[in-house]
Amino acid sequence: MRIGVPKEIKNHEYRVGMTPEMVFVFVQAGHEVFVETGAGAKIGFTDEMYKSAGAKIVAAPKDVYEAEMVIKVKEPQPEEFPLLKEGQILYCYLHLAPDPEQTKYLLERKVVGIAYETVTDSSGMRLPLLIPMSEMAGRIAIQVGATALQMANGGSGVLLGGVPGVTPGNVVIIGAGVVGTHAARMALGLGANVTILDKSLSRLRELDAQYGPALKTLYSSPMNLEQAVIHADLVVGSVLIPGKMAPKLVTRSMIQKMAPGSVIVDVAIDQGGCFETSKPTTHSAPTYVVDGVVHYCVTNMPGACARTSTLALVNATMPYGLQIANKGYKQALKEDPGLMLGLNVCLGHVTHHHVAQDLGYEYVPPQKLF
Ligand SMILES: NC(=O)c1ccc[n+]([C@@H]2O[C@H](COP(=O)([O-])OP(=O)(O)OC[C@H]3O[C@@H](n4cnc5c(N)ncnc54)[C@H](O)[C@@H]3O)[C@@H](O)[C@H]2O)c1
Repeated sequence: MRIGVPKEIKNHEYRVGMTPEMVFVFVQAGHEVFVETGAGAKIGFTDEMYKSAGAKIVAAPKDVYEAEMVIKVKEPQPEEFPLLKEGQILYCYLHLAPDPEQTKYLLERKVVGIAYETVTDSSGMRLPLLIPMSEMAGRIAIQVGATALQMANGGSGVLLGGVPGVTPGNVVIIGAGVVGTHAARMALGLGANVTILDKSLSRLRELDAQYGPALKTLYSSPMNLEQAVIHADLVVGSVLIPGKMAPKLVTRSMIQKMAPGSVIVDVAIDQGGCFETSKPTTHSAPTYVVDGVVHYCVTNMPGACARTSTLALVNATMPYGLQIANKGYKQALKEDPGLMLGLNVCLGHVTHHHVAQDLGYEYVPPQKLF
């Protein structure tokens, strides 16, 4: 199969869909890989390294989009929409539920959109292509939250770990999945006072067993949530209902009750965000202030640490990508029900029920199409 790897063009996005090592594996398997010049340059993957791995370097995005499958990281940007071809496989993050414009274009262009974020493993419980970036984003959330708390950045001047004789800051994490767990681990490492909320009692039990009394677990009821949020120095939003818009759990009136200079990091912003006051931001201008509370709502947080993120991402995307390239998408999806759940749009139809529900499209089960 002919595979294209474009340079990412989202704001400050330096991750790349394939590393030279991944290219090598695909070329060994008999595929042709076309990499846009400079696609990995910022994170140390030069054109020479890709060439040595067997890739062909192409000059322009349009040459990449001639391929049968495009492997990238972030959803296509409006400049990329016209380059997409009918029947082309697009293998990347899509996050369609909060993005009606992109969905409309992908349907019009009749692409086969396999979204990393809704592929599930054989248990049907885990999201293997979201996990590595959630691990990254969870850890980054505490770094950026701690930085935003500094005075020069509009924060309240609280040091999360405190110092001897001064109590540490309060970190509240809403959603105890992958992002939440990694955020908790980092915040505990800094010495903060950490509370984590979730609807899933079994998840809270696991965390309690893992971390003991250092991590406070709390059932995510509206009153518990409000009490935790209004006393927090830093709130991390990390809830997810796969494929759906995130529920707006933190209302503006709760934000108004927080201390001035407190910080929220809405990691779930890529699914629309779980704070009423959230709106997407970029790495160039990552924060804004509402009612005295600093909001960080960057939709591609792992891009901040693009080298580690790329290496972590391709570890997960490579085996699935190889199955698609080796067998063709129809056969690969038929053989793996978890990969089938990644199919969000196909040849002009919405094939993920949550995306269809949130955006008001008819849901067409993929089995009806091939
Ligand atoms: N901004 C970024 O750059 C970035 C990067 C990676 C992941 N994300 C996003 O972070 C979010 C979380 O991802 P994840 O991998 O941790 O998901 P996950 O499925 O591992 O965890 C989500 C958790 O939310 C919980 N939850 C659902 N509804 C809840 C509610 N009402 N109250 C409390 N908890 C609730 C679930 O029980 C689950 O434990 C997703 O939207 C994901 O796309 C964003």
